[in-house]
Amino acid sequence: MLNFSFQNTTKILFGEGQIKAISKAIPKDAKVLVTYGGGSIKANGVYEQVAAALSEHTWFEFSGIEPNPTYANLMKALVSIREHDVDYLLAVGGGSVVDGTKFIAAAALYEGDDPWDFIAKGQPIKQALPMGCVLTLPATGSESNTGAVVTRDGNKLPFSSPLLRPLFAVLDPAVTLSLSDRQISNGVVDAFVHTMEQYLTYSVNGKVQDRFAESLLLTLIEEGPKALAADTKNDLDVRGNIMWAATMALNGLIGSGVPQDWSTHMIAHELTGAYGIDHARTLSIVLPAVMKIRKEAKRDKLLQYAQRIWNLTDGDEDTRIQRAIELTEQFFTAMQVPTRLSHVDLAEAQIDGLIEKLTQHGMVKLGEHKAVTPDVSREILVAAL
Ligand code: NZQ
Ligand code: ZN
Repeated sequence: MLNFSFQNTTKILFGEGQIKAISKAIPKDAKVLVTYGGGSIKANGVYEQVAAALSEHTWFEFSGIEPNPTYANLMKALVSIREHDVDYLLAVGGGSVVDGTKFIAAAALYEGDDPWDFIAKGQPIKQALPMGCVLTLPATGSESNTGAVVTRDGNKLPFSSPLLRPLFAVLDPAVTLSLSDRQISNGVVDAFVHTMEQYLTYSVNGKVQDRFAESLLLTLIEEGPKALAADTKNDLDVRGNIMWAATMALNGLIGSGVPQDWSTHMIAHELTGAYGIDHARTLSIVLPAVMKIRKEAKRDKLLQYAQRIWNLTDGDEDTRIQRAIELTEQFFTAMQVPTRLSHVDLAEAQIDGLIEKLTQHGMVKLGEHKAVTPDVSREILVAAL
């Protein structure tokens, strides 16, 4: 296993009714800005629960953070922060709201010319407002990690800083009952691919990491379809298992001490940046193609995945690997997400533009071996047609 240091300081408040706990989790003298999205929290009662929990706090709100949050919109929050002297942020929503709030947290205290510079030019984030969150969509892991993704003019770019890790995250599975099937699917698939990005590389004999990752993959394969099936979709145990799996998939634990890939995400971000396709639906298209094109570099782990996740022990190595890829695609299809570019009406003609964007964004040496050059990304996109 590789050397690592691991620290995750986010306090997890898991379970039904835990929104109440934010009244104690946020200092009483804080001036809080509650940030949220397009209004789902008003329709499902989460807003009222948050308002009740903050009844003894001074708080303001900033709404309208959109899926795949944009720089232009997030910058508007700074007006309210300055006007009210806000010193604490509470994100209430899915990954987009949490990510957007991370951007706001850093932008509010940024001393340079333009906060976009800490994304596009990699300027260090030296300070950020403290934040907590109430997660309403299990998917990204943003609720307890240091990363975020923000889009400006079609450029969807990641950034991260230890200063952006939420201080606490409320994970109440009951608030996920109002999710549409599409968002449930997206969340399960995103968490699955996060796990794969940290697992399906090359072996460094990280047994604990591998087996944690396998437990997350098996849980998502088992529980994901139940969250879509009529007779089990309202089962809070199903929702709770998915929620905890999604947090664990990207809270730093399974990726500590092992190589990581992330080429699927970086290629997939270009599909969202250019065509607005939901994040998870770009991952389900790109991952199977990465598994095919990077087969030799990932051979040992693909065989381990085939055996431990899909019980494939018969036949020669290539047959087992091919079958494991097919079963991964079948799982995605069962989760009602696309697995080919053609499923989202994209064709070969669009590939040049995507490769150009990847290159512009410096995504030219991706993957655990830094071997995914623009030419390899092209092969991956061709395999995804
Ligand atoms: O805006 P509202 O009205 O809240 O509606 C949202 C939104 O339309 C709705 N929703 C959320 N919770 C709901 C609900 N509807 C009903 N009931 C609920 N309980 O769901 C829609 C999608 O929300 P969004 O936050 O966009 O989804 P998700 O959590 O999948 O986040 C996706 C974003 O996270 C980024 C993605 O790139 C994308 O921008 N990622 C962040 C990562 C990180 N910070 O570590 C890693 C990921 O790989 C990912 O890149
Ligand atoms: Zn993701």
